[in-house]
Amino acid sequence: MSVEILMQDTKIEKMTLDVTGNLRDALAVIDKNGAGLCFVIDNEDRLLGVLSDGDIRRALLKGDTLNTKVDEVMAKNFIALHIDTPNHQIQETISKKIKYIPLIDSDGILKDYSSNLQSRCHPIMQPSLRGNELEYVIDCIKTNWISSQGSYVQKFEEVMAEYCHIPNALAVSNGTVALHLSLVALGVGEGDEVIVPNLTFAACVNAVIHTGARPVLVDITSDTWTLDPSEVKSSITDSTKVIMPVHLYGHPCDMDAIMAIARQHNLLVLEDCAEALGTSYKGKPVGSFGDSAAFSFFGNKTITTGEGGMVLFHDKNISEKAKILRDHGMSKTKRYWHNEVGFNYRLTNIQAAIGVAQMERVDEILKKKHVIADTYNHELFACSRLTLPPSADWATNSYWMFTVLLDDYLSERKDKLITNLLNKGIETRPVFYPLDDMKVFKQYSGSKNSVSRNISRRGLSLPSYVDLSKEDVRDISKLIIKEINNLD
Ligand SMILES: Cc1ncc(COP(=O)(O)O)c(C=O)c1O
Repeated sequence: MSVEILMQDTKIEKMTLDVTGNLRDALAVIDKNGAGLCFVIDNEDRLLGVLSDGDIRRALLKGDTLNTKVDEVMAKNFIALHIDTPNHQIQETISKKIKYIPLIDSDGILKDYSSNLQSRCHPIMQPSLRGNELEYVIDCIKTNWISSQGSYVQKFEEVMAEYCHIPNALAVSNGTVALHLSLVALGVGEGDEVIVPNLTFAACVNAVIHTGARPVLVDITSDTWTLDPSEVKSSITDSTKVIMPVHLYGHPCDMDAIMAIARQHNLLVLEDCAEALGTSYKGKPVGSFGDSAAFSFFGNKTITTGEGGMVLFHDKNISEKAKILRDHGMSKTKRYWHNEVGFNYRLTNIQAAIGVAQMERVDEILKKKHVIADTYNHELFACSRLTLPPSADWATNSYWMFTVLLDDYLSERKDKLITNLLNKGIETRPVFYPLDDMKVFKQYSGSKNSVSRNISRRGLSLPSYVDLSKEDVRDISKLIIKEINNLD
Protein backbone atom coordinates (compact mmCIF):
# COMPACT_ATOMS: atom_id res chain seq x y z
CA MET A 1 0.00 0.00 0.00
CA SER A 2 1.40 3.39 -0.92
CA VAL A 3 1.88 6.11 1.66
CA GLU A 4 -0.56 8.32 -0.23
CA ILE A 5 -3.37 5.79 -0.08
CA LEU A 6 -2.80 5.23 3.62
CA MET A 7 -2.74 8.96 4.31
CA GLN A 8 -5.91 9.63 2.42
CA ASP A 9 -8.11 6.66 3.06
CA THR A 10 -7.40 5.36 6.52
CA LYS A 11 -10.20 7.01 8.41
CA ILE A 12 -10.76 6.14 12.05
CA GLU A 13 -13.70 3.88 11.13
CA LYS A 14 -11.32 1.59 9.26
CA MET A 15 -9.08 1.31 12.31
CA THR A 16 -11.65 0.00 14.79
CA LEU A 17 -12.96 -3.39 15.87
CA ASP A 18 -15.74 -4.18 18.33
CA VAL A 19 -14.52 -5.91 21.50
CA THR A 20 -16.87 -8.84 20.84
CA GLY A 21 -14.81 -9.77 17.77
CA ASN A 22 -12.22 -12.53 17.49
CA LEU A 23 -8.72 -12.67 16.03
CA ARG A 24 -10.08 -13.53 12.58
CA ASP A 25 -12.15 -10.31 12.61
CA ALA A 26 -9.09 -8.38 13.79
CA LEU A 27 -6.95 -9.70 10.94
CA ALA A 28 -9.64 -8.67 8.44
CA VAL A 29 -9.65 -5.10 9.81
CA ILE A 30 -5.84 -4.93 9.85
CA ASP A 31 -5.66 -6.36 6.35
CA LYS A 32 -8.00 -3.64 5.09
CA ASN A 33 -6.48 -0.66 6.88
CA GLY A 34 -2.88 -1.62 6.12
CA ALA A 35 -1.76 -0.04 9.39
CA GLY A 36 -0.63 -3.22 11.13
CA LEU A 37 -3.00 -2.70 14.07
CA CYS A 38 -6.54 -1.91 15.08
CA PHE A 39 -8.22 -0.14 17.99
CA VAL A 40 -10.63 -2.26 20.04
CA ILE A 41 -13.76 -0.42 21.23
CA ASP A 42 -16.99 -1.17 23.07
CA ASN A 43 -20.48 -0.42 21.78
CA GLU A 44 -20.15 3.21 22.97
CA ASP A 45 -16.87 3.71 21.09
CA ARG A 46 -14.88 3.62 24.33
CA LEU A 47 -11.31 2.58 23.60
CA LEU A 48 -10.48 -0.68 25.42
CA GLY A 49 -7.31 -1.88 23.77
CA VAL A 50 -4.90 -1.87 20.88
CA LEU A 51 -4.19 -5.01 18.89
CA SER A 52 -1.32 -5.33 16.45
CA ASP A 53 -0.62 -8.04 13.87
CA GLY A 54 2.44 -8.89 16.01
CA ASP A 55 0.19 -9.49 19.03
CA ILE A 56 -1.95 -11.85 16.95
CA ARG A 57 1.09 -13.71 15.58
CA ARG A 58 2.48 -14.23 19.08
CA ALA A 59 -0.92 -15.40 20.38
CA LEU A 60 -1.28 -17.96 17.57
CA LEU A 61 2.22 -19.28 18.23
CA LYS A 62 1.29 -19.70 21.89
CA GLY A 63 -1.70 -21.85 20.93
CA ASP A 64 -4.56 -19.39 20.55
CA THR A 65 -6.78 -19.82 17.50
CA LEU A 66 -8.46 -17.42 15.10
CA ASN A 67 -11.59 -17.85 17.19
CA THR A 68 -9.91 -16.45 20.33
CA LYS A 69 -11.67 -13.27 21.50
CA VAL A 70 -9.68 -10.07 20.94
CA ASP A 71 -9.94 -8.94 24.56
CA GLU A 72 -7.83 -11.94 25.58
CA VAL A 73 -4.96 -10.80 23.37
CA MET A 74 -5.13 -7.02 22.96
CA ALA A 75 -2.80 -4.63 24.83
CA LYS A 76 -4.78 -2.92 27.57
CA ASN A 77 -2.06 -0.56 28.77
CA PHE A 78 -1.72 1.36 25.53
CA ILE A 79 -0.69 4.98 25.03
CA ALA A 80 -3.53 7.33 24.08
CA LEU A 81 -3.71 11.12 24.01
CA HIS A 82 -6.56 13.52 24.54
CA ILE A 83 -8.22 14.69 21.32
CA ASP A 84 -7.38 18.32 22.20
CA THR A 85 -3.64 17.64 22.47
CA PRO A 86 -1.76 20.18 20.32
CA ASN A 87 -0.52 18.71 17.08
CA HIS A 88 3.16 19.26 17.85
CA GLN A 89 2.83 17.29 21.10
CA ILE A 90 1.18 14.43 19.25
CA GLN A 91 4.01 14.41 16.75
CA GLU A 92 6.57 14.41 19.60
CA THR A 93 4.92 11.31 21.08
CA ILE A 94 5.04 9.42 17.80
CA SER A 95 8.27 7.46 17.68
CA LYS A 96 9.83 4.48 15.93
CA LYS A 97 8.05 2.22 18.44
CA ILE A 98 4.71 4.04 18.61
CA LYS A 99 3.56 4.75 15.10
CA TYR A 100 -0.16 5.15 15.80
CA ILE A 101 -1.65 7.13 18.66
CA PRO A 102 -5.36 6.86 19.45
CA LEU A 103 -6.97 10.15 20.39
CA ILE A 104 -9.73 10.00 22.98
CA ASP A 105 -12.00 12.45 24.76
CA SER A 106 -12.33 12.85 28.54
CA ASP A 107 -14.73 9.89 28.68
CA GLY A 108 -12.28 7.63 26.90
CA ILE A 109 -14.29 7.66 23.67
CA LEU A 110 -12.13 7.08 20.60
CA LYS A 111 -12.38 10.18 18.40
CA ASP A 112 -9.50 9.94 15.97
CA TYR A 113 -5.93 8.80 15.70
CA SER A 114 -2.66 10.22 14.55
CA SER A 115 0.36 8.62 12.97
CA ASN A 116 3.60 9.55 11.28
CA LEU A 117 1.72 9.07 8.01
CA GLN A 118 -1.58 10.64 8.89
CA SER A 119 -0.81 13.67 10.98
CA ARG A 120 -3.96 15.50 11.90
CA CYS A 121 -2.63 18.54 10.12
CA HIS A 122 -4.39 20.26 7.27
CA PRO A 123 -2.07 22.83 5.69
CA ILE A 124 -3.61 25.84 4.05
CA MET A 125 -2.27 24.69 0.68
CA GLN A 126 -0.13 21.97 -0.83
CA PRO A 127 0.38 20.94 -4.42
CA SER A 128 -1.17 17.86 -5.97
CA LEU A 129 1.45 16.23 -8.19
CA ARG A 130 -0.06 12.87 -8.99
CA GLY A 131 -0.35 13.12 -12.77
CA ASN A 132 2.48 13.01 -15.31
CA GLU A 133 4.64 15.54 -13.43
CA LEU A 134 7.37 13.06 -12.45
CA GLU A 135 7.42 11.34 -15.82
CA TYR A 136 7.88 14.62 -17.69
CA VAL A 137 10.59 15.84 -15.29
CA ILE A 138 12.43 12.54 -15.77
CA ASP A 139 12.09 13.05 -19.50
CA CYS A 140 13.82 16.46 -19.21
CA ILE A 141 16.67 14.90 -17.26
CA LYS A 142 17.05 11.88 -19.53
CA THR A 143 17.12 14.07 -22.62
CA ASN A 144 19.37 16.73 -21.01
CA TRP A 145 16.84 19.54 -21.67
CA ILE A 146 16.87 21.02 -18.19
CA SER A 147 17.44 24.69 -18.94
CA SER A 148 15.06 27.24 -20.42
CA GLN A 149 15.05 25.76 -23.90
CA GLY A 150 13.11 22.58 -24.63
CA SER A 151 9.79 21.36 -25.84
CA TYR A 152 7.93 21.66 -22.53
CA VAL A 153 8.39 25.45 -22.36
CA GLN A 154 6.77 25.87 -25.75
CA LYS A 155 4.06 23.35 -24.99
CA PHE A 156 3.25 25.04 -21.66
CA GLU A 157 2.95 28.40 -23.42
CA GLU A 158 0.67 26.93 -26.09
CA VAL A 159 -1.58 25.24 -23.53
CA MET A 160 -1.90 28.41 -21.45
CA ALA A 161 -2.60 30.58 -24.52
CA GLU A 162 -5.40 28.26 -25.56
CA TYR A 163 -6.83 27.98 -22.06
CA CYS A 164 -6.85 31.75 -21.52
CA HIS A 165 -8.08 32.66 -25.02
CA ILE A 166 -5.04 34.93 -25.57
CA PRO A 167 -2.79 34.22 -28.54
CA ASN A 168 0.69 35.09 -27.18
CA ALA A 169 2.06 33.49 -24.00
CA LEU A 170 5.52 33.70 -22.46
CA ALA A 171 6.61 31.44 -19.61
CA VAL A 172 8.60 33.32 -16.97
CA SER A 173 10.30 32.59 -13.65
CA ASN A 174 7.46 33.72 -11.35
CA GLY A 175 4.28 35.79 -11.14
CA THR A 176 6.05 38.92 -9.93
CA VAL A 177 8.29 39.13 -12.99
CA ALA A 178 5.27 38.31 -15.15
CA LEU A 179 3.77 41.58 -13.87
CA HIS A 180 7.03 43.50 -14.22
CA LEU A 181 7.79 42.22 -17.72
CA SER A 182 4.26 42.99 -18.80
CA LEU A 183 4.44 46.57 -17.50
CA VAL A 184 7.82 47.22 -19.14
CA ALA A 185 6.66 45.71 -22.44
CA LEU A 186 3.51 47.88 -22.30
CA GLY A 187 5.83 50.88 -22.06
CA VAL A 188 5.22 51.79 -18.41
CA GLY A 189 7.97 53.80 -16.74
CA GLU A 190 8.85 56.99 -14.94
CA GLY A 191 6.11 59.60 -14.94
CA ASP A 192 3.32 57.02 -15.35
CA GLU A 193 0.73 56.00 -12.80
CA VAL A 194 -0.70 52.50 -12.43
CA ILE A 195 -3.94 51.90 -10.50
CA VAL A 196 -3.57 48.92 -8.15
CA PRO A 197 -6.04 47.60 -5.54
CA ASN A 198 -5.07 48.36 -1.95
CA LEU A 199 -5.78 44.78 -0.87
CA THR A 200 -3.52 42.38 -2.72
CA PHE A 201 -0.13 40.70 -2.43
CA ALA A 202 2.74 43.20 -2.43
CA ALA A 203 4.14 41.80 -5.70
CA CYS A 204 1.58 43.95 -7.57
CA VAL A 205 2.81 47.21 -6.13
CA ASN A 206 6.50 46.19 -6.12
CA ALA A 207 6.37 45.38 -9.83
CA VAL A 208 5.03 48.87 -10.58
CA ILE A 209 7.60 50.63 -8.39
CA HIS A 210 10.44 48.72 -10.09
CA THR A 211 9.41 50.18 -13.46
CA GLY A 212 9.87 53.71 -12.07
CA ALA A 213 6.13 54.37 -12.32
CA ARG A 214 3.93 55.39 -9.40
CA PRO A 215 1.32 52.97 -8.09
CA VAL A 216 -1.98 54.46 -6.96
CA LEU A 217 -3.62 52.27 -4.34
CA VAL A 218 -7.40 52.36 -4.47
CA ASP A 219 -10.17 50.60 -2.63
CA ILE A 220 -12.06 47.40 -3.37
CA THR A 221 -15.77 46.59 -3.17
CA SER A 222 -17.16 44.55 -0.29
CA ASP A 223 -19.10 42.28 -2.66
CA THR A 224 -16.13 41.23 -4.80
CA TRP A 225 -13.05 42.07 -2.67
CA THR A 226 -11.58 43.40 -5.93
CA LEU A 227 -11.05 46.84 -7.52
CA ASP A 228 -13.95 49.25 -7.05
CA PRO A 229 -14.66 50.73 -10.52
CA SER A 230 -15.93 54.01 -9.03
CA GLU A 231 -12.68 54.39 -7.05
CA VAL A 232 -10.72 53.63 -10.20
CA LYS A 233 -12.61 56.33 -12.06
CA SER A 234 -12.02 59.00 -9.45
CA SER A 235 -8.30 58.16 -9.24
CA ILE A 236 -7.52 58.76 -12.90
CA THR A 237 -5.12 61.61 -13.67
CA ASP A 238 -3.29 62.75 -16.79
CA SER A 239 -0.45 60.41 -15.78
CA THR A 240 -2.55 57.26 -15.46
CA LYS A 241 -1.42 54.65 -17.96
CA VAL A 242 -2.52 51.25 -16.69
CA ILE A 243 -5.27 49.75 -14.54
CA MET A 244 -4.25 46.53 -12.78
CA PRO A 245 -7.34 44.55 -11.76
CA VAL A 246 -6.37 41.71 -9.42
CA HIS A 247 -8.78 38.77 -9.35
CA LEU A 248 -8.30 38.21 -5.63
CA TYR A 249 -8.71 34.76 -4.03
CA GLY A 250 -10.24 33.50 -7.28
CA HIS A 251 -13.09 36.03 -7.54
CA PRO A 252 -13.14 38.03 -10.79
CA CYS A 253 -13.17 41.82 -10.94
CA ASP A 254 -16.09 43.59 -12.59
CA MET A 255 -14.38 43.57 -15.98
CA ASP A 256 -17.15 45.26 -18.01
CA ALA A 257 -16.99 48.31 -15.77
CA ILE A 258 -13.18 48.36 -15.70
CA MET A 259 -12.82 47.92 -19.46
CA ALA A 260 -15.38 50.69 -20.08
CA ILE A 261 -13.33 53.09 -17.93
CA ALA A 262 -10.12 51.99 -19.68
CA ARG A 263 -11.64 52.61 -23.11
CA GLN A 264 -13.08 55.96 -22.10
CA HIS A 265 -9.72 57.19 -20.80
CA ASN A 266 -7.51 55.36 -23.28
CA LEU A 267 -5.80 53.29 -20.59
CA LEU A 268 -4.10 49.90 -20.78
CA VAL A 269 -5.28 47.00 -18.61
CA LEU A 270 -3.01 44.38 -17.04
CA GLU A 271 -5.01 41.63 -15.33
CA ASP A 272 -3.29 39.96 -12.38
CA CYS A 273 -4.60 36.39 -12.56
CA ALA A 274 -2.07 34.92 -10.12
CA GLU A 275 -4.89 33.67 -7.88
CA ALA A 276 -7.46 33.11 -10.58
CA LEU A 277 -6.64 30.34 -13.01
CA GLY A 278 -10.04 28.91 -13.96
CA THR A 279 -11.95 32.03 -12.92
CA SER A 280 -14.31 33.55 -15.43
CA TYR A 281 -16.37 36.70 -15.78
CA LYS A 282 -19.71 36.32 -17.58
CA GLY A 283 -18.45 33.00 -18.95
CA LYS A 284 -15.17 34.38 -20.35
CA PRO A 285 -11.84 33.44 -18.71
CA VAL A 286 -10.11 36.18 -16.75
CA GLY A 287 -6.97 37.40 -18.42
CA SER A 288 -8.71 37.58 -21.79
CA PHE A 289 -10.19 41.06 -21.22
CA GLY A 290 -7.19 43.34 -20.84
CA ASP A 291 -4.10 44.03 -22.93
CA SER A 292 -2.06 41.64 -20.87
CA ALA A 293 -2.48 38.98 -18.17
CA ALA A 294 -0.06 37.65 -15.56
CA PHE A 295 -0.22 34.28 -13.81
CA SER A 296 1.76 32.75 -10.95
CA PHE A 297 2.57 29.07 -10.52
CA PHE A 298 4.04 29.28 -7.03
CA GLY A 299 3.57 26.11 -4.94
CA ASN A 300 0.34 27.35 -3.38
CA LYS A 301 -1.37 28.29 -6.63
CA THR A 302 -4.18 26.43 -8.42
CA ILE A 303 -1.60 24.78 -10.65
CA THR A 304 2.09 24.95 -9.81
CA THR A 305 5.56 24.63 -11.26
CA GLY A 306 7.23 25.22 -7.90
CA GLU A 307 8.16 28.77 -8.84
CA GLY A 308 6.93 30.05 -12.18
CA GLY A 309 4.71 32.42 -14.06
CA MET A 310 3.20 33.27 -17.41
CA VAL A 311 2.53 36.55 -19.14
CA LEU A 312 0.10 36.77 -22.05
CA PHE A 313 -0.55 39.50 -24.60
CA HIS A 314 -3.14 40.06 -27.30
CA ASP A 315 -0.72 42.16 -29.34
CA LYS A 316 1.95 40.11 -31.11
CA ASN A 317 4.42 43.00 -31.34
CA ILE A 318 4.27 43.70 -27.61
CA SER A 319 4.70 40.00 -26.94
CA GLU A 320 7.76 39.89 -29.23
CA LYS A 321 9.22 42.86 -27.35
CA ALA A 322 8.59 41.08 -24.02
CA LYS A 323 10.21 37.91 -25.37
CA ILE A 324 13.42 39.80 -26.09
CA LEU A 325 13.30 41.55 -22.70
CA ARG A 326 12.79 38.16 -21.00
CA ASP A 327 16.08 37.01 -22.53
CA HIS A 328 18.49 39.83 -21.56
CA GLY A 329 17.20 42.11 -24.31
CA MET A 330 19.39 40.15 -26.72
CA SER A 331 18.87 40.51 -30.47
CA LYS A 332 17.06 37.53 -31.96
CA THR A 333 19.29 37.57 -35.01
CA LYS A 334 22.68 38.49 -33.53
CA ARG A 335 23.81 36.56 -30.45
CA TYR A 336 25.30 38.67 -27.63
CA TRP A 337 24.08 41.86 -29.31
CA HIS A 338 21.71 43.90 -27.14
CA ASN A 339 19.32 46.57 -28.36
CA GLU A 340 17.43 46.75 -25.07
CA VAL A 341 18.27 46.63 -21.38
CA GLY A 342 16.68 43.29 -20.54
CA PHE A 343 16.26 40.69 -17.81
CA ASN A 344 16.67 36.98 -17.34
CA TYR A 345 13.08 36.05 -16.54
CA ARG A 346 13.02 32.63 -18.21
CA LEU A 347 11.33 29.48 -16.89
CA THR A 348 13.22 26.18 -17.05
CA ASN A 349 12.09 23.23 -19.14
CA ILE A 350 11.85 21.17 -15.91
CA GLN A 351 9.40 23.66 -14.41
CA ALA A 352 7.45 23.85 -17.66
CA ALA A 353 7.27 20.03 -17.71
CA ILE A 354 5.52 20.15 -14.33
CA GLY A 355 3.26 22.90 -15.69
CA VAL A 356 2.26 20.84 -18.73
CA ALA A 357 1.37 17.88 -16.50
CA GLN A 358 -0.57 20.16 -14.16
CA MET A 359 -2.52 21.69 -17.04
CA GLU A 360 -3.51 18.19 -18.17
CA ARG A 361 -5.36 18.01 -14.83
CA VAL A 362 -6.62 21.58 -14.63
CA ASP A 363 -10.30 20.65 -15.08
CA GLU A 364 -10.07 17.95 -12.44
CA ILE A 365 -8.26 20.34 -10.06
CA LEU A 366 -10.86 23.09 -10.55
CA LYS A 367 -13.70 20.63 -10.07
CA LYS A 368 -12.19 19.56 -6.76
CA LYS A 369 -11.78 23.20 -5.72
CA HIS A 370 -15.49 23.72 -6.36
CA VAL A 371 -16.41 20.67 -4.28
CA ILE A 372 -14.24 22.04 -1.44
CA ALA A 373 -15.89 25.47 -1.68
CA ASP A 374 -19.41 24.04 -1.96
CA THR A 375 -18.79 21.88 1.11
CA TYR A 376 -17.40 24.79 3.15
CA ASN A 377 -20.31 26.99 2.04
CA HIS A 378 -22.77 24.30 3.05
CA GLU A 379 -21.12 23.49 6.40
CA LEU A 380 -20.45 27.09 7.47
CA PHE A 381 -23.63 28.68 6.12
CA ALA A 382 -25.46 28.44 9.44
CA CYS A 383 -22.64 29.95 11.47
CA SER A 384 -23.78 33.53 12.00
CA ARG A 385 -20.32 34.61 13.19
CA LEU A 386 -18.86 34.05 9.73
CA THR A 387 -19.50 35.71 6.36
CA LEU A 388 -18.89 33.42 3.40
CA PRO A 389 -16.72 34.55 0.46
CA PRO A 390 -18.34 36.67 -2.24
CA SER A 391 -19.69 35.29 -5.47
CA ALA A 392 -21.28 37.88 -7.73
CA ASP A 393 -24.00 36.79 -10.18
CA TRP A 394 -21.65 37.22 -13.10
CA ALA A 395 -18.73 35.47 -11.43
CA THR A 396 -17.33 31.98 -11.70
CA ASN A 397 -15.14 31.98 -8.64
CA SER A 398 -12.34 29.41 -8.87
CA TYR A 399 -12.01 29.58 -5.05
CA TRP A 400 -8.22 29.58 -5.08
CA MET A 401 -8.17 30.05 -1.31
CA PHE A 402 -11.44 29.72 0.59
CA THR A 403 -11.58 32.84 2.73
CA VAL A 404 -14.26 33.87 5.22
CA LEU A 405 -14.89 37.03 7.21
CA LEU A 406 -15.06 36.89 11.01
CA ASP A 407 -17.46 39.03 13.03
CA ASP A 408 -16.02 41.87 15.11
CA TYR A 409 -15.70 39.80 18.29
CA LEU A 410 -13.73 37.07 16.51
CA SER A 411 -11.68 39.56 14.48
CA GLU A 412 -10.30 41.00 17.69
CA ARG A 413 -9.26 37.47 18.72
CA LYS A 414 -8.06 36.33 15.31
CA ASP A 415 -4.50 35.47 16.43
CA LYS A 416 -5.84 33.33 19.25
CA LEU A 417 -8.26 31.57 16.93
CA ILE A 418 -5.44 30.87 14.46
CA THR A 419 -3.24 29.44 17.25
CA ASN A 420 -6.04 27.30 18.68
CA LEU A 421 -6.86 25.89 15.26
CA LEU A 422 -3.19 25.20 14.54
CA ASN A 423 -2.96 23.28 17.81
CA LYS A 424 -5.79 21.14 16.47
CA GLY A 425 -3.88 20.59 13.22
CA ILE A 426 -5.71 23.16 11.08
CA GLU A 427 -3.64 25.83 9.44
CA THR A 428 -5.46 29.07 8.70
CA ARG A 429 -4.09 32.37 7.49
CA PRO A 430 -5.02 36.03 7.81
CA VAL A 431 -5.62 37.87 4.56
CA PHE A 432 -3.26 40.52 3.18
CA TYR A 433 -2.72 43.79 5.02
CA PRO A 434 -3.95 46.91 3.24
CA LEU A 435 -0.86 47.98 1.29
CA ASP A 436 -1.15 51.63 2.33
CA ASP A 437 -0.95 50.62 6.01
CA MET A 438 2.71 49.82 5.46
CA LYS A 439 5.36 52.51 5.66
CA VAL A 440 6.96 51.58 2.34
CA PHE A 441 3.68 51.95 0.44
CA LYS A 442 1.84 54.63 2.44
CA GLN A 443 2.86 57.38 0.04
CA TYR A 444 0.95 55.64 -2.77
CA SER A 445 -2.42 55.66 -1.03
CA GLY A 446 -5.04 56.78 -3.52
CA SER A 447 -8.36 56.65 -1.65
CA LYS A 448 -9.91 56.17 1.77
CA ASN A 449 -9.52 52.42 1.44
CA SER A 450 -11.95 51.64 4.24
CA VAL A 451 -13.28 48.45 2.59
CA SER A 452 -9.81 46.97 2.14
CA ARG A 453 -9.12 47.71 5.81
CA ASN A 454 -12.36 46.02 6.85
CA ILE A 455 -11.80 42.88 4.76
CA SER A 456 -8.18 42.67 5.90
CA ARG A 457 -9.14 42.95 9.57
CA ARG A 458 -11.82 40.27 9.34
CA GLY A 459 -10.52 37.86 6.70
CA LEU A 460 -9.36 34.35 7.46
CA SER A 461 -8.31 31.80 4.82
CA LEU A 462 -9.05 28.12 5.43
CA PRO A 463 -7.29 24.97 4.18
CA SER A 464 -7.95 24.87 0.45
CA TYR A 465 -5.54 22.33 -1.02
CA VAL A 466 -6.86 20.26 -3.88
CA ASP A 467 -6.65 16.86 -2.21
CA LEU A 468 -8.96 17.79 0.68
CA SER A 469 -11.85 15.35 0.68
CA LYS A 470 -15.45 16.33 1.39
CA GLU A 471 -15.14 14.59 4.78
CA ASP A 472 -11.97 16.56 5.55
CA VAL A 473 -13.79 19.82 4.82
CA ARG A 474 -16.74 18.74 6.96
CA ASP A 475 -14.39 17.83 9.84
CA ILE A 476 -12.47 21.11 9.49
CA SER A 477 -15.71 23.12 9.41
CA LYS A 478 -17.05 21.40 12.53
CA LEU A 479 -13.81 22.02 14.36
CA ILE A 480 -13.76 25.68 13.32
CA ILE A 481 -17.31 26.19 14.59
CA LYS A 482 -16.42 24.44 17.84
CA GLU A 483 -13.32 26.61 18.33
CA ILE A 484 -15.28 29.76 17.49
CA ASN A 485 -17.94 28.90 20.07
CA ASN A 486 -15.30 28.14 22.71
CA LEU A 487 -13.25 31.29 22.10
CA ASP A 488 -13.33 33.65 25.04
C1 LIG B 1 -2.22 38.54 -6.57
C2 LIG B 1 -0.79 38.09 -6.75
N1 LIG B 1 -0.04 38.69 -7.66
C3 LIG B 1 1.23 38.32 -7.86
C4 LIG B 1 1.83 37.32 -7.15
C5 LIG B 1 3.26 36.99 -7.35
O1 LIG B 1 3.50 35.71 -7.80
P1 LIG B 1 4.86 34.94 -7.47
O2 LIG B 1 4.83 34.56 -6.05
O3 LIG B 1 4.86 33.78 -8.40
O4 LIG B 1 5.98 35.88 -7.77
C6 LIG B 1 1.07 36.67 -6.18
C7 LIG B 1 1.62 35.60 -5.40
O5 LIG B 1 1.82 34.87 -4.82
C8 LIG B 1 -0.28 37.07 -5.96
O6 LIG B 1 -1.02 36.46 -5.03
